Amino acid sequence: MMKARLGGLLSVLWAILLSLPLMNGVDRSKFRTCAQSAFCGRGRNAAQLGAFALDPETLKASDSRIQAVLWHTGSQIRFRFELQALMDGTFRVGLREAFPLVPRFEVPNVLLDETPEGVAWTLEEQSPEGFTASTASTGHRVKISHAPFRVAFFAGEKLRVTLNARDLLHFEATREKPVQAGEGQEAAPAQEPGMWEESFGGNTDSKPHGAQAVGLDFTFHGSEDVYGVPEHADKFNLPDTGSTDPIRLYNLDVFEYELDNPMALYAAVPMVMSQTAEITTGAFWLNAAETWVDVSRSGSGVLGSLSNLVTQGEKSVNVHFLSESGVLDAFIFMGPRPHDVSRQYGQLTGNTPLPPAFSLAYHQCRWNYNDQEDVRMVSDKFDEHDIPMDIMWLDIEHTDAKKYFTWDGRKFPNSLEMIQNLTAVGRKLVTIVDPHIKKDNNYWVHKELTDLGLYVKTKEGNDYEGWCWPGASYYPDFLNPAAREYFAQQYVYDKYQGTTKDVFTWNDMNEPSVFNGPEVTMPKDLIHHGNVEHRDLHNMYGHLYVMGTFDGHILRSEGQQRPFILTRSAFAGSQRYAAIWTGDNTAEWGHLAASVPMCLSLSIAGISFCGADVGGFFGNPDGELFVRWYQAASFQPFFRSHAHIDTKRREPWLYNESELKLIRNAIRTRYSYLPLWYTLFYENEMTSIPPMRPVWYDFPTDTDAFTVEDEFMVGTALLVHPVAKSGASHVNVHFPGREQYWYDILTHERIDHEGSMNIPVKMDHIPVYQRGGSIIPKKERIRRSSALMHDDPITLVVAVDKDNTANGTLYIDDGISYDYRAAKKSLYMQFVFDGQRLSGHQLHTPGYQTGSWLERVVFVGMEKEPKSAKLMSPTGKEEVLGTQYEARKNLLTVRKPGVNMAEDWEIVFQY
Ligand code: NOJ
Repeated sequence: MMKARLGGLLSVLWAILLSLPLMNGVDRSKFRTCAQSAFCGRGRNAAQLGAFALDPETLKASDSRIQAVLWHTGSQIRFRFELQALMDGTFRVGLREAFPLVPRFEVPNVLLDETPEGVAWTLEEQSPEGFTASTASTGHRVKISHAPFRVAFFAGEKLRVTLNARDLLHFEATREKPVQAGEGQEAAPAQEPGMWEESFGGNTDSKPHGAQAVGLDFTFHGSEDVYGVPEHADKFNLPDTGSTDPIRLYNLDVFEYELDNPMALYAAVPMVMSQTAEITTGAFWLNAAETWVDVSRSGSGVLGSLSNLVTQGEKSVNVHFLSESGVLDAFIFMGPRPHDVSRQYGQLTGNTPLPPAFSLAYHQCRWNYNDQEDVRMVSDKFDEHDIPMDIMWLDIEHTDAKKYFTWDGRKFPNSLEMIQNLTAVGRKLVTIVDPHIKKDNNYWVHKELTDLGLYVKTKEGNDYEGWCWPGASYYPDFLNPAAREYFAQQYVYDKYQGTTKDVFTWNDMNEPSVFNGPEVTMPKDLIHHGNVEHRDLHNMYGHLYVMGTFDGHILRSEGQQRPFILTRSAFAGSQRYAAIWTGDNTAEWGHLAASVPMCLSLSIAGISFCGADVGGFFGNPDGELFVRWYQAASFQPFFRSHAHIDTKRREPWLYNESELKLIRNAIRTRYSYLPLWYTLFYENEMTSIPPMRPVWYDFPTDTDAFTVEDEFMVGTALLVHPVAKSGASHVNVHFPGREQYWYDILTHERIDHEGSMNIPVKMDHIPVYQRGGSIIPKKERIRRSSALMHDDPITLVVAVDKDNTANGTLYIDDGISYDYRAAKKSLYMQFVFDGQRLSGHQLHTPGYQTGSWLERVVFVGMEKEPKSAKLMSPTGKEEVLGTQYEARKNLLTVRKPGVNMAEDWEIVFQY
């Protein structure tokens, strides 16, 4: 009894402590540096020329696989080496111990069930030094040298990527634990510290299997620019780590994270993309254990001097992955362009499936909306202030004592009525469901998970108990399919009472966050299903969790509705299940700026549905910062305002009249572009190409764009440059590409400039330009929610390029179901303008019916006024359309073509 009370008290203290907005920044002493992590210390500088050699006698090449024995020349330990050639310029390299003493973990549930097929190798030259093999169908060649062991990848004659150029291949084989030498016995061989036990911050990691690190370096030739390995609050173009810690991938709940450093955050995606004007390549390191990543340009950093394949003067960037355990399993992508690398990576780990349409609209969140009256008031106020809003969110306080899948009956006595109020105007609700489970025998989830034995276990075999929001908590073992299935079952309506089909899910704290655990997470020597140590899978715990949630939503709607899930933690492949946000940022200008590089690096690593808390989670944004944040976020994929429980309320109408007006404008602008966003997400599912992209992505030869950190593209059509400085009167916009026209989306002013240009800014909008040559579909009748706009008419904005041409697409479906995957259940229109005629042409099998019609076409950059504009419908009907021309602005508006969006049509100009 006494113990329970003490537990309750402690839990309250923890909650208070963790909710205090101490604006002092991260407590670094809680998190390890490389030097404080034994394997990082051992492996970071482990370069040793000739440490590994390939045994040519064992070489086998059959079909798509080259196999051989690789041995460590010092210890003589043997490894199985395999190099597989896959379709579409992808290679897979594997290294496994030939005779491990304990099984080593192979990452499950990340690669798609169907990955690209193998393509045949042809063995070419063989000599005592090495051999060459090629893949006729992809035009790639590898050169493998036996000793020192290297693998070099060529596209045509050009060397593009080399493995182990810096001799950092590192593989700590499993071994017997040395026993203390008894009297008269020979002493066991010396061990480096931390190989069998390691302590940090008062916690001891027992390491029953000893040191098991694996590492390898990847050299991207001709390159200086490399991106990826999210999630960090750091530069998008990965900085050299020679004089800093390596970039750390270890999913952690970092309180008040700091900018511009490589400390680990909530998500980890071990994927990089290297960009040069000539070629884009990439690598994916499939390992879910703690990983450190060093980046060094040729001649720089701690690793530079050891290069022997990088010739003097050649540019190159080397990326060194080092993981604590697991096997060596990696992929190399040969591009040759950014789109190709995205596709190659997407074919392995999947694409973001088309999200439900409402989720691309505006989300209103705070920790917490207090009760159902509060929810109703906030929803009503949005209407009163003429601000569209699609989703209200409920944080942890809506539950009964932090027991997820329950309601606090005092504050939410009638959740169904509250939901009904929202859905009446097309809105939805999101509730939070965290993975920690309150220790409470009257809570069915705890009782059942205990009885079913589905919690993560201590090394002694007991259920592991940690601290989180509810106080004493247990953590389901999501590696076990039964635990994922159990969680999925909790989402069915009978179980998750008081919810409806309009309620979606927020998964937070899934790194997992354990307030009293080492580095605020789980001890590494905990045990999962199949006797797997937590160490092996830490970075995918959150991923496994969202898999269960996703299945739950599929179960809940009997497969009828696309789920919407937001996750804080993620791993490679999590894009298949959830959107992500960048966690607990701060109401500071630097954090607004950081939302761009953070979401860009997630995007190029496949996690494309990304956003940051608008306004900053901690602290109170002033009006200027808040407005600027709305303006920036309204052009980012996931658009949600959120705030810490101790911050001042900050719904838009709590700011002054002029700020409110600007926030309203920003949100309404987002709604006007929803047809573009939806189309881009459809194309993202089809092609792997992220909607929010780096400026260089579609202009890969523009080398000046490689270091642009403060702007981004939405599709190929919009160039967005957020204003992230207080009192800014100008910003430096980089206009990418050659011979492009860019049009200010508000003034329609044309910018005909390459590279950087000083642009004056006012408070009313941030610089956003439509690329000449693009056609954007918009909806301009803004209503209370996107659902109410579903059948609204379309405006096309045709911005012409130097040749007076443009093209674009529009995708429409029911917005929520999976029907779109069947023929005739969606609409995909292509628009082409050739200077004389604009045509709309259905690319999918016709049959989908929509109430949406073409209301207006705005031609931007039209230097000549046409005499007439005629609409030709497929039935042969011709109709002269009304036009209006503003010569000063080169703007032509064609009024009311009136055709249904599902029809093919043409508008022909006569001059
Ligand atoms: C941490 C999350 O990052 C934050 O967004 C949320 O409000 C709190 N947990 C409380 O659930």
